[in-house]
Amino acid sequence: MPRVPFIGGNFKCNGSTDFIKAHVAKLAAHSIPAGVEVCIAPSMVHLHLAATVNTNKSLHVAAQNVYIQPSGAWTGETSVEMLKDMGVTYTLVGHSERRRIIGECNTLSAEKALRALQHGMTVLFCTGETLQEREAGKTMQVNIEQLQALKNQIDKAGDKGLWKGVVIAYEPVWSIGTGVTATPEQAQEVHASLRAWVAEHVCKDLAASIRIIYGGSANIKNCGALGKCPDIDGFLVGGASLKDEFLAMVDSLAATKGV
Ligand code: PGA
Repeated sequence: MPRVPFIGGNFKCNGSTDFIKAHVAKLAAHSIPAGVEVCIAPSMVHLHLAATVNTNKSLHVAAQNVYIQPSGAWTGETSVEMLKDMGVTYTLVGHSERRRIIGECNTLSAEKALRALQHGMTVLFCTGETLQEREAGKTMQVNIEQLQALKNQIDKAGDKGLWKGVVIAYEPVWSIGTGVTATPEQAQEVHASLRAWVAEHVCKDLAASIRIIYGGSANIKNCGALGKCPDIDGFLVGGASLKDEFLAMVDSLAATKGV
């Protein structure tokens, strides 16, 4: 079974109500190629608006983060239950800005992913190394440690089937928002290694079916060459997802993958 290409737009901490209304309406008006899975992740405060404005069943609305508890005294947090109540069934987890700036550790990211997966959500589980780590030859070690934390949680829960809800987003920290994109060779090498890790440590069938998408200054100019790589199944797009360019990337991905 060929993997369904996946592309996500991460709006981060951007946008106003006017912008979200106009941008989501424009994205929703687009005829999304049937063979591609697409989601957009506005800020929490804009999620409800985006979910309301979005009339396109092929465009999914995602959260950028989620918490590990169902409800209670967790100031500033949002639960899986709250997201699902709004019809949101996709979420990013462990974005490098949360890991590196906000201070989320591997275990917490993995716990968040587990809870979302156990409630049937699709989780875009982000991994990525810093430039310093890459230069120290630790690229795979860092990415695999992040993924291993997720494996530990899923193993503890005793339900390997949960992996089916995971999309791995490989996002080298040095390329996020910098305009320095990983070359297709650099990205393909990591994607192939992550897939090999999944084959060895989870199972071969999952390795063949799991989507591994690339993020980090992906745009309409570089997505064609990156998308041609056999282990790159799509993109997590930051800056370019705030522009019409995102729609061109959706179409380009469909064309590159022949769906
Ligand atoms: P960027 O962000 O495309 O602006 O580099 C990607 C991301 O952080 O998901």
